[in-house]
Amino acid sequence: MNFENILIEKKDSLAQVTINRPKKLNALNSATINELNVAFEALEDDDDIRVIILTGSGEKAFVAGADISEFAHFSVEEGGDLAREGQEMLFDYIENLSTPVIAAVNGFALGGGLELAMSCHFRVASDNAKMGLPEVSLGVIPGYGGTQRLPQLVGKGKAMEMIMTAGMISAEEAKGCGLVNHVTTQEELLPLVEKIASKIIRNSSVAISAAIRAINASFEDGIDGFDVEIEEFGECFGTEDFKEGTTAFLGKRKPNF
Ligand code: COA
Repeated sequence: MNFENILIEKKDSLAQVTINRPKKLNALNSATINELNVAFEALEDDDDIRVIILTGSGEKAFVAGADISEFAHFSVEEGGDLAREGQEMLFDYIENLSTPVIAAVNGFALGGGLELAMSCHFRVASDNAKMGLPEVSLGVIPGYGGTQRLPQLVGKGKAMEMIMTAGMISAEEAKGCGLVNHVTTQEELLPLVEKIASKIIRNSSVAISAAIRAINASFEDGIDGFDVEIEEFGECFGTEDFKEGTTAFLGKRKPNF
């Protein structure tokens, strides 16, 4: 598929997906959501790719939200469908990928943009980034998982305040409340994320996928995360990576996963 709204770059085991609508501050229209879904499916199936970086084009925005011009006239039913389809196709899909996805938040991450960053496995921001869920200022609430993932990351009270005020927080504040893991300059953002990715790539991708499933399980209703951990832990013992990792350690050499 030829993409019009995103760019994909691959370098060794690393893929970078860049949302590329800088004139619209990379706002997520339905075409972009579709393209992201296709791109993430293809990268998940690509055994060479061990980490995916998601970022926005230009110096101003990661993603300034869902494209307001596309849904301003929607009915109740269309609004519900927009949220359901978007969550299934992209936001839940990314969160449950076996391949780690890191958001490099290079500017505004608002509304659907922050929700997209929160769907990624973790986030690193540049110091110019501003984050918020301003939906109530438009008369709507976050619909791509923001009311669920923001409290998971920053706690209920902080999430309530951010959502009720529709305000933006700085990258430093976001780091202070656990929304992003690191803050750096815009210039250093991708190099830092690539450095973190290179540490991930050295480890067992099979074990990392199991860890993602176990961690995510603790946030799923009706599922006991400890049970999932026990199950996934046991499964690891049957993998080639476990043999290689333990043999390499006991043989005093580096593992080759
Ligand atoms: N949906 C659609 N278009 C958007 C958009 C969005 N979420 N965010 C920005 N844009 C468009 C603007 O309409 C403008 O387009 P135009 O040049 O054709 O008029 C362009 O991107 C640049 O944005 P602009 O508002 O001129 O930039 P700014 O620097 O003055 O302000 C923001 C930046 C992020 C503060 C402002 O764009 C904004 O508030 N955006 C909406 C954020 C939001 O509510 N997101 C949640 C949506 S659910």
